[in-house]
Amino acid sequence: MTKHEKLSKKSSNIDAPFHVTGRTKYVDDMPELQGTLFVKIFPSPVAHGQIIRLDYSKALQMPGVVAVLSEKDIPGENELGGIVKDEPMLAEQEVHFEGQPILLVIAETEDIAHHALSLIEIDIEAHPVTTDPIIAHQQGDLLHKSRTFSIGNTQEAFAKCKHVFEGTAESGGQEHVYLEPQGAYSIPQDKGGITIYSSTQGPTAVQRTVARILDMPMSQIEVDVNRIGGGFGGKEDQASPWAAMAALATYHLRKPVKLILERKEDLKMTGKRHPYKSRYKIGLDEDLNILAYEATFFQNGGAAADLSPPVLGRTLFHSTNSYDIPNVDATAHCCKTNIVPNTAFRGFGGPQGMFVIESAIHYAARQIGVTPIEIQAKNLLKENAVFPYGQIVKGCEARQCWSEAVEKYQVAALQKEVDDFNQQHAYQKKGFALMPVCFGISFTNTPMNNARALVHIYSDGSVGVNTGAVEMGQGVNTKMVQIAAQMFGLPQQRIQLNNTNTTRVANTSPSAASATADLNGKALQDAGRQLTERLHDFIRQDLNLNKNERISFKNEQVYVNEKASALSWEELIQKALAQRINLSAKGHYATPVIHFDRNKEKGHPFAYHVYGTAILTCTVDCIRGIYEFDKVQIVHDFGASMNREIDLGQIEGGLVQGMGWMTLEEIIYNEKGLLKSNSLATYKIPDIYAAPKTIDVHFLNTDTDNEAILKSKAVGEPPLMYGIGAYFAICNAVLAFNPKAKIDYVAPMTTERVLMGLYGL
Ligand code: MTE
Ligand code: HPA
Ligand code: CA
Repeated sequence: MTKHEKLSKKSSNIDAPFHVTGRTKYVDDMPELQGTLFVKIFPSPVAHGQIIRLDYSKALQMPGVVAVLSEKDIPGENELGGIVKDEPMLAEQEVHFEGQPILLVIAETEDIAHHALSLIEIDIEAHPVTTDPIIAHQQGDLLHKSRTFSIGNTQEAFAKCKHVFEGTAESGGQEHVYLEPQGAYSIPQDKGGITIYSSTQGPTAVQRTVARILDMPMSQIEVDVNRIGGGFGGKEDQASPWAAMAALATYHLRKPVKLILERKEDLKMTGKRHPYKSRYKIGLDEDLNILAYEATFFQNGGAAADLSPPVLGRTLFHSTNSYDIPNVDATAHCCKTNIVPNTAFRGFGGPQGMFVIESAIHYAARQIGVTPIEIQAKNLLKENAVFPYGQIVKGCEARQCWSEAVEKYQVAALQKEVDDFNQQHAYQKKGFALMPVCFGISFTNTPMNNARALVHIYSDGSVGVNTGAVEMGQGVNTKMVQIAAQMFGLPQQRIQLNNTNTTRVANTSPSAASATADLNGKALQDAGRQLTERLHDFIRQDLNLNKNERISFKNEQVYVNEKASALSWEELIQKALAQRINLSAKGHYATPVIHFDRNKEKGHPFAYHVYGTAILTCTVDCIRGIYEFDKVQIVHDFGASMNREIDLGQIEGGLVQGMGWMTLEEIIYNEKGLLKSNSLATYKIPDIYAAPKTIDVHFLNTDTDNEAILKSKAVGEPPLMYGIGAYFAICNAVLAFNPKAKIDYVAPMTTERVLMGLYGL
């Protein structure tokens, strides 16, 4: 056994040995075919304007430059928009954000293409720039229809409230900082088609976009994804443009073409989490029951719709987070501004909605003179409550997660410890906050909740698995291998998980919405069921068994009535093939029970919900305004986790990413709409020093019936929202130093904002 094999036996994530030994391959690691050309993008230098003059003749004359392509060279539709057709791939007369692609320079080397960009001359007549979503809304600049979710009667309910408060809250954007930047490698096929290796969460989205841009049938475009170096939503729809640009060059030049964004280009040209500005009104009775809640969300969508409309929808779905509020009016506006079109990001608008209700509760608690914890605990969801969108709360673990967190992590003792510390320390203050989370699992667009899988059993008994799932670090490949190994009673080494490929598995939804393992895993089970049924029938005949005798596969052996038979798996497969039995199967899954009526804004959009509660404790240095997170303790509802190590990694990663959004990561545009935080030197993501000193996760193993794969609930996005508690933990420490601190509920809570709070600046 080699060292690598030993490692892979021990490792529960099948990718881990390859990652740590540097053998993992991303798009830019693919060996280049002879004659490969390289693309560089000439982007808009301004945020809004009219192109008056564009001259690329000098660039074209540069030795090694093969072509310069503009919107005029697009044979199909110059359109990227998947939901609203409002986004040209290459600018026509106008530009609407800094970094908007205008021209493509194709050259023999990346360096030559890069140099040629500086020879392009452009004059742009500047137009007024809007970066603020509320101003955009006032100007009537909307990307899509506004939406309202309502339940009960807020007006009547507010009239009955003892306490009514109004306020505002604001959360910033967030850069995905996937380790692998966006990119694609496009290769012409001799039958006229094009194969594209893309770093995408949505191979079908890439295929559809390329087909539209090139006016080619989708059947001639093959998209292949080995794995991606992180996506976090940033490659759900926004991997398509780079693939389509490379494919456009291949179309014209019949050559392999590579386009990989440099980090700086990626930061400027790709969409981020949507910044939001919001207003709320919250009403409570004298027992602290929240009777009514109103919220208005202004989403900063950027210059084109992209995924902003469904992101906006999820803000409304999660506007009441984990609370049972009987009277709600929540309205959201999808505002058009002159920044890069914003896009999916882990949580998909949910975190922005939750930040507002948590801000409202925090503000209300301060005004009433109670702790936010008292209001949160009082109002947690209960079984059979109704979400504002009409779904009845079933299998609710909100209260169980909360009370287990409070008991296991001794919140009463923590309160005392923090109070004692704060009494004893004049210039250091501790604060803590509880953050409950309730997140709905399913694409909110019901038709997207389906998947397929293709399974082949080869004559040596090894198994090839193909699904629509894209591995982006979340461990979905390992989960697929686990499912296949279990179905056939084989060791994991006998299962080969192939690249995600649109020719093998077609019309897939992107790997997103935390639903990838559920959807693809269940499609895989469907294929497995067909194959085992065929094999069982064959065994019955071959071994002369009657219908009542139980057949199963274990340890590469056929078992009859739980006893090992003489027939091994490999012999079985060879015999079955000799009898001409079909050992390939295509599985399909479409989530049952879900539906939603967009006219009424009511229905049952989610297969199930994931719950949890986090306790975040920090220490603020009240001289310098810096802070550290001492610990984060979480009780999380995993259902029956099918891979605890992977799921734990998702909790830790999601938490720290959410904390980064709430504390360090600040995206800044200047008044001209130019991105100032345009490098990893000016945009700070959490590192090991910013991460909490300890993260303790308690698995709430629940075996309530749910639609999750093997009852192992989706885990990709929910933990990000635990990070919201970081904002309030810091607020509480600041208030311990300066009880009159003006908390403005503007995230991120950077060191500068902490200082302003501490000293009332
Ligand atoms: N984990 C890693 N390591 N890398 C990623 O890009 N994306 C997150 C989450 N966890 C991501 C990740 C996001 S945004 C989603 S929607 C889910 O994984 C997608 O995968 P799943 O559906 O298999 O959970
Ligand atoms: N749709 C698409 N992508 C998503 C969603 C969704 O509802 N939720 C998270 N990512
Ligand atoms: Ca990005």
